[in-house]
Amino acid sequence: MSNHIQASKYAAINFNEKLSLFHDQWRPRIIAALNDYHFKLVKIEGDFIWHQHADSDEAFIVLNGNLRIDFEDGHVDIKEGEMFVVPKGVPHKPFSETEVEILLIEPQGIPNTGDLEAGEHTATDGIWI
Ligand code: NI
Repeated sequence: MSNHIQASKYAAINFNEKLSLFHDQWRPRIIAALNDYHFKLVKIEGDFIWHQHADSDEAFIVLNGNLRIDFEDGHVDIKEGEMFVVPKGVPHKPFSETEVEILLIEPQGIPNTGDLEAGEHTATDGIWI
């Protein structure tokens, strides 16, 4: 049995409370499911690697800090309280000068490194908190 079952089925999910449960960067944690989608919290700092997701869009919602996502033909700055959806198939590289805390929404089982072969930046999906 997974450990994400709340003590009460009507307990609200608090982002800051969940964010306080982990401190490592680049390792998304699942906090909720919606049909075939997962809501995941992740902390990132510095440069990620260029990658793309052939079959899925990817939503970035910035909870704390500032996130920049580079594209081959430009970039977007996403501030706290803002969001952006990266369309499927578009190469992108997240970056943050100081730690940023993000809520990701994407289909279950999507690796964070997209279509690349698994490497040191690949996070295992499926860690519920
Ligand atoms: Ni991505």
